[in-house]
Amino acid sequence: MGRGKDYLRFLEERRKGDPGYRSGRVFSSMCTLPKREVVRAYLRFLETNALDPRVFPSVRELEEEVVEEAGRLFSCPAAAGYVASGGTEGNLMALWVAREVTGRRKVVAPASVHYSVRKACRLLGLKLALVGVGEDYRADPRKVEEEVDRETAAVVATAGTASLGLVDPVEEMAEVAAEKGCFLHVDASLGGFMLPFLSVDYEWDFRVEGVSSLTADLHKMGGAPIPSGLLLVREGEWLERVGEEVPYLGGRTHTLLGTRPGASVAASWIALKLLDGREARRCVQLTRKLAGGIRGVEGLELPVEPELNVVVFRHESLSCSELERGLEEKGWVVSRSDFPEGIRLVVMPHHRPSHLTAFLRDLRLSAEGAWKGPRGS
Ligand SMILES: Cc1ncc(COP(=O)(O)O)c(C=O)c1O
Repeated sequence: MGRGKDYLRFLEERRKGDPGYRSGRVFSSMCTLPKREVVRAYLRFLETNALDPRVFPSVRELEEEVVEEAGRLFSCPAAAGYVASGGTEGNLMALWVAREVTGRRKVVAPASVHYSVRKACRLLGLKLALVGVGEDYRADPRKVEEEVDRETAAVVATAGTASLGLVDPVEEMAEVAAEKGCFLHVDASLGGFMLPFLSVDYEWDFRVEGVSSLTADLHKMGGAPIPSGLLLVREGEWLERVGEEVPYLGGRTHTLLGTRPGASVAASWIALKLLDGREARRCVQLTRKLAGGIRGVEGLELPVEPELNVVVFRHESLSCSELERGLEEKGWVVSRSDFPEGIRLVVMPHHRPSHLTAFLRDLRLSAEGAWKGPRGS
């Protein structure tokens, strides 16, 4: 047996220890199993470098097509952008562009914003003003307005918050941003590839005039493998403001990374072609069922009605750690929401109705089995 084969066997063994998406027991992740065709596309382009269009012109063309198609999906066919590694990079780049174009150094965001925005502000030397959310846990445009001033480079809205999967009032936030002449960036890392396929009675993408940039992740609800995200900006020239010459390749780049996986570009291209919203609608439906099931367990409550594919629940007397421990002991991987405090579940394409039934059965056992009467009794 060659050494390579031995090592591969060793790696196989290592993987066997992971709970894995296929088990249906992972409710903590916003990523999922990519479709078979998408994996094949990824592998076909495995060694390609999106930084180097002279060697891989096909990747450049595919990336242009991805940007154009996503631009159409998000109501701005002329948007510029590129295939990024995910929401963290998308948010960082959007704020970098906003800083360069406006020459200002402040960002205003609701407290529910993804932590990558905090990271981006630290890296970019931007002052971040976090404002409280409204009673419905969405951004409160009045609180945002109080903080936005002539020093503000960007306001950040989220379409599908990481904790609760809620969509901020983008239209009202865009009005506030437009009044002060700053950017409005929409972090649609989670919701971007769900919302176009759901019937919602609000606008949240480039259809809203004040939206300057948008990030949406194909490696979340878009069906592509990690790393596949998208950054789009309304005006191509804005992206040029962060462009650099690559002396040894004789071209310009306006991306965060240098060498970039062309495999992600090819996978994103095919994932977008195959995207029809069926999984988004199915996950939302399953989420509602799950929420209904949780409400039926004595002692459990939902602080917020789910909007996309995230449910948060808590128990009237058990702590989140106790609940989480009980579920973990039964083999479920769940996560936490810190505000409002609760156990957070994300329903993804790897979930089937039978997984939800099994989860609810174990949840009932954990919640009712450990329940010792109301708090303080
Ligand atoms: C709303 C939101 N923005 C940004 C991110 C960061 O995305 P990534 O981890 O792909 O960089 C996430 C990740 O969960 C998210 O939910």
